[in-house]
Amino acid sequence: MIDDREKTPSVMIAGTGAYLPERIMTNAELEKMVDTSDEWIVTRTGVRERRIAAAGEATSDMAIPAAKQALQEAGLDAVDLDLIIVGTVTPDMIFPNTASLVQSGIGATKALCFDLSAACSGFLYAQETARGLLLSGLYDNALVIGADKMSVVTDWEDRGTCILFGDGAGAVVLKRTVTHRGIMATAVGADGSLGDLLMIPGGGSRNPASHASIDEHLHFVKMAGNNVFKHAVRCMTEAGRDALAKAGLTIDDVDWVIPHQANMRIVQAISERVEIPLERFIINLDRLGNTTAATVPLALNEGIRDGRIKRGDILLMIVFGGGFTWGATVVEY
Ligand SMILES: CC(C)(COP(=O)(O)OP(=O)(O)OC[C@H]1O[C@@H](n2cnc3c(N)ncnc32)[C@H](O)[C@@H]1OP(=O)(O)O)[C@@H](O)C(=O)NCCC(=O)NCCS
Repeated sequence: MIDDREKTPSVMIAGTGAYLPERIMTNAELEKMVDTSDEWIVTRTGVRERRIAAAGEATSDMAIPAAKQALQEAGLDAVDLDLIIVGTVTPDMIFPNTASLVQSGIGATKALCFDLSAACSGFLYAQETARGLLLSGLYDNALVIGADKMSVVTDWEDRGTCILFGDGAGAVVLKRTVTHRGIMATAVGADGSLGDLLMIPGGGSRNPASHASIDEHLHFVKMAGNNVFKHAVRCMTEAGRDALAKAGLTIDDVDWVIPHQANMRIVQAISERVEIPLERFIINLDRLGNTTAATVPLALNEGIRDGRIKRGDILLMIVFGGGFTWGATVVEY
């Protein structure tokens, strides 16, 4: 007889949570701020409205309620958490890291805490990192959060970017298990040679904050939109295919695709290329815009709460972000 200790361990999603700021910003408001129109934004991006965090509401303030919800659903006490990783490019501050602020906010007294910077790929990169640490056997469970307050790094005078982004946080609790297939395979990649196509150049050691850096808008997102678009479609398509092949599955096995949500036309292009109909994609872009590291855990949480995603479903998460960074993960929920 084989007991549980002899079975191959895996890492499963035990619970999810989400937080969205109250304030909704519509395209009509943006029409008053920059030279754009609701019609252009909807047809070129698919975004109709986005959430904007309050002035005093930082990234950890959004991450904490999302974390509490995920812990509750997983039936795990914060004091028993081993690991907290926050995927974000808008930490509360340079340090302490946001994960430590979450640790304090939820009372996870024995957790190892760090932030992971991979822009829109931050959640998937963090989830994959946590999976490796849990499979090592050193840790039993992890809280993985994707949270960003993009409104503070958005140049509200740049119509090429300000129409895209929104604020929010999503969280998952991961547990090592021998009873579920959980996360089955991941394919990830990065190409730093293309980093300058999508970046926040100011505020780090290269271009520290100065009067000049502020005058030059260096603390805001700079993006070569069209170029990013093409790389996103290619890398996300390839990663999706690679992850499925690694898992030994085909497109017919996939119940739901959970893509990073930067532009509806990117999602449509991926749907056509991987030949999975759009009806099997979980979309929140129309209501939330691009919430950067939060898009995937927010969409996952939404699909679970509204009953579309059920235990045993095969999910394909696919992301792309600054770095460039990208990846795809196949999960049995
Ligand atoms: C940013 C993005 C929406 C722009 O859409 P696009 O179809 O590529 O548009 P282009 O940049 O080629 O611009 C086309 C025209 O629309 C104009 N335009 C750009 N933003 C506009 C806006 N908000 N309203 C009206 N016109 C706009 C441009 O100035 C340009 O005008 P021109 O032809 O007179 O020069 C799109 O490129 C995109 O979504 N890129 C990827 C974003 C992304 O994935 N980011 C994060 C990755 S994680």
